[in-house]
Amino acid sequence: MKVLAVSGGAQGIGRAVAEHFARADYAVSVIDPAVDAGEDLVRRMRGEGRKVIHVTGDVANKSDVTGWMARTEAEIGCPDVLVANAGINRRAPALELATSDFDRVLAVNLRGAFLCAQAAAQAMARRKRGGAIVTIASTRAFMSEPDTEAYAASKGGIVALTHALALSLGPMGIRVNCVSPGWIETRDWQFGGRAAQPVHTERDRSQHPVGRVGRPEDIAQACFYLAEQAEFVTGQNLIVDGGMTVKMIYEE
Ligand SMILES: NC(=O)c1ccc[n+]([C@@H]2O[C@H](COP(=O)([O-])OP(=O)(O)OC[C@H]3O[C@@H](n4cnc5c(N)ncnc54)[C@H](O)[C@@H]3O)[C@@H](O)[C@H]2O)c1
Repeated sequence: MKVLAVSGGAQGIGRAVAEHFARADYAVSVIDPAVDAGEDLVRRMRGEGRKVIHVTGDVANKSDVTGWMARTEAEIGCPDVLVANAGINRRAPALELATSDFDRVLAVNLRGAFLCAQAAAQAMARRKRGGAIVTIASTRAFMSEPDTEAYAASKGGIVALTHALALSLGPMGIRVNCVSPGWIETRDWQFGGRAAQPVHTERDRSQHPVGRVGRPEDIAQACFYLAEQAEFVTGQNLIVDGGMTVKMIYEE
């Protein structure tokens, strides 16, 4: 049985990634600070006969990440695939953004992705069977709205981190690629009070060339493709946004 390690896997896109790989017969290890959501995921997935563990932790903290990887190896095996998905956003006017908020977004999104990749690659290198790492950036690595400096910088960093890691880890048989999601609806993939039924307007749908807003499963499929079916692809960024970022917009 292959092993997936996914950060931020208790809710949202990460949860869809966990469930998608589990359906393909992967054992799954999740790091996520959301205790109730993580326990709920484990209960439901074990109820479906899946092998899954949840470790409570913060990807910005190196000892949390190394502890997660050690428990993963001890309890379900060395990861074949890492999806470095955990991410946060703290939006504030550019002239008022607190340094502590900028640092926290960079610490979770960028340092966290690096720490997870480093720990997973160390385990993969010891086992000498190679593996695949998928990072999660955003179309906001390439385009912006106002007042999104911390998030945009962190996601741009992830794209660069991905091609750097692809070069460093290639000789160990580890491919590293990035998925950049566009607008993905996650309200119905949250736990407890955070969950809500999505409502989309015709305008929400029609601004996407494919005619709908994205779903977490769209990103899970892209991660699965890059991990399982893309032997000759490394260091790349795959935009999964329903075509939104290739659409030219003229003001009328
Ligand atoms: N939803 C979108 O439209 C969208 C678009 C582009 C990129 N993304 C990226 O996709 C990833 C997942 O986003 P989402 O929308 O599913 O978010 P989400 O908020 O729905 O879920 C994120 C999960 O990560 C966990 N998490 C938060 N901080 C963490 C930390 N420090 N360590 C470990 N886990 C932590 C949360 O508890 C939660 O379970 C993020 O990197 C996000 O930036 C999302």
